[in-house]
Amino acid sequence: MCGIVGYIGEQRASPILLEGLRRLEYRGYDSAGIATLDGNFIIKKGVGRIGKLNDSLKFTDMEGNIGIGHTRWATHGSVTEENSHPHWSCKAEVVLVHNGIVENYTKLREFLISRNHKFSSQTDSEIIAHLLEEAISSHADIKSAILSVVGSLGGSYAFLAMIKEQPDLLIAVRKDAPLVLGIANNSHFVSSDVLSFIDKTNQAIFLDNKEIAFISRNKVQIFDFTGKSIQKKTTTLAWEISDVSKKEYLHFTLKEIHEQPISVRQALAQNEKEVKEIGEILRKTKNVFITGCGTSYHASLLLKYLLAKNLRVRADVFLSSEIDQQKDLIDSDSVVLAVSQSGETADVLNAVAIAKQRGARILSIVNVMGSSLARESYKTLYTHCGPEVGVAATKSFSAQLSVMFLIVVAAAKGSPKDLLALQYHIRDVLATEETVRTISEKYIGANDFYFVGRGDNYPIALEGALKLKELSYVHAEGMAAGELKHGTLALIEQGTPVLLLNPPDETYLPTLNSALELKARGAKIIGISTKRDPCYDDFVPLPAISSTYLFPIVEVVPLQMLAYFTALGRKLDPDYPRNLAKSVTVV
Ligand code: M6R
Repeated sequence: MCGIVGYIGEQRASPILLEGLRRLEYRGYDSAGIATLDGNFIIKKGVGRIGKLNDSLKFTDMEGNIGIGHTRWATHGSVTEENSHPHWSCKAEVVLVHNGIVENYTKLREFLISRNHKFSSQTDSEIIAHLLEEAISSHADIKSAILSVVGSLGGSYAFLAMIKEQPDLLIAVRKDAPLVLGIANNSHFVSSDVLSFIDKTNQAIFLDNKEIAFISRNKVQIFDFTGKSIQKKTTTLAWEISDVSKKEYLHFTLKEIHEQPISVRQALAQNEKEVKEIGEILRKTKNVFITGCGTSYHASLLLKYLLAKNLRVRADVFLSSEIDQQKDLIDSDSVVLAVSQSGETADVLNAVAIAKQRGARILSIVNVMGSSLARESYKTLYTHCGPEVGVAATKSFSAQLSVMFLIVVAAAKGSPKDLLALQYHIRDVLATEETVRTISEKYIGANDFYFVGRGDNYPIALEGALKLKELSYVHAEGMAAGELKHGTLALIEQGTPVLLLNPPDETYLPTLNSALELKARGAKIIGISTKRDPCYDDFVPLPAISSTYLFPIVEVVPLQMLAYFTALGRKLDPDYPRNLAKSVTVV
């Protein structure tokens, strides 16, 4: 979703902002823009991708050593140049970029209209620029002006503002949307994600909710929303996370699929004591809840199965956006384990906030270090799979599952030795790439696709369907194999492709029976298994793994490849699927 960058220092701001925005492209956006201050404000913005916009607008010609930039993912107002950011106030005294939603914007807009403000966009964001201009005219100093602005804004937001009369000041405000400062010599960076400045500095200050930073070339002052000064700790970031190039791959998605042998190994390299501690908490807590969205929800569902089967721990899993239906069950005897790649998904953060209010202890499995979810958690295990740029979660999913398996194995007092072989199993299954590509070509015209699995393979079926939907825009459903006969069989026609997850575990024979039922109704069966059954029309071989409980992590890889190749076959960009954002920061 919207991405924010800011720079103040001794260099020209525009090339730095442009590169920063490029590094935020993964979040998803429909328009972009940059503003610099060089005596007067210069603003260039438009609809479309940053590279194309730069060709026509020449962002890098913009002068000035201070500036802000933005990628917009439309919420209020359609995708137009006027609605793209930066926005300015009527008298062009304030220029601003914003991420989030101003909930009381209609009321604020009416107030500003009564004060003769004229708007040039339909966005809620522009309101903030006008409010700040209004507040500056009626307050003694900038600090009291900004405090009055945040006092009147409802909703969630992060914004960056520049003031014409203050060429050595960037104002950064955070409430329920991420914002982090990069600290370097005589220069400062601000962004929604450290990725946009990690190539320039590894020193970061993460703003917390309800904090305001006054950033000049040589100093940073941070206040809370009451105006109290706050001392913040500087975090040293790991340089490895700066690796956001595609390397030899055509797309980030393909690169990330191929990174899984390494990322799984990294995910498994956890501190043993911390893993055991989390396992113990889950084992001893009366009410265990697991929550996440999208792919992270599928991982959560698998953890529920693992806890039940291996530890006899009962856990409730809920979609974070459904917290209202669960909250009455959550109390001080509860643990909520939240799962998120970004750690910034608004639905997850909202669920966690509600669970905390009700006295629950929060645990999390997160990829992005220093993210809001990690900061809200009592304990976090990081998945350490590196930046995931493709909108579709791939390596973050296998990394989440790896951490989950590790927790369960440790709590069951088993040996994690088998887990260490995962990287080799994934390498083996990646070698089936050409087979998967051929299958994707065979079914390129299919409008409906079904993914079927039992037990631990069911969450993977859900995940396979989600991947295909989001990357190739083909309707897909993930089904528990035993459920087919309760309704979905009616949809099976001559030639309907059904992908069958059938590893040699206790689900093997009943799943094969489901395949026969499907086949009798005309389905084409794509079997994913260690051995080819005659009823499969197509077959993707899985490596032989003696620890059969590991199959879910391995078998998801061909599903990711199928979605990727289907997207290519349909001439779609797998890295940036339409209508989607990597980090969904609105509820
Ligand atoms: O960052 P999160 O794991 O919290 O994100 C949750 C979902 O938005 C995410 O998994 C989404 O479903 C992916 N695009 C799926 O590939």
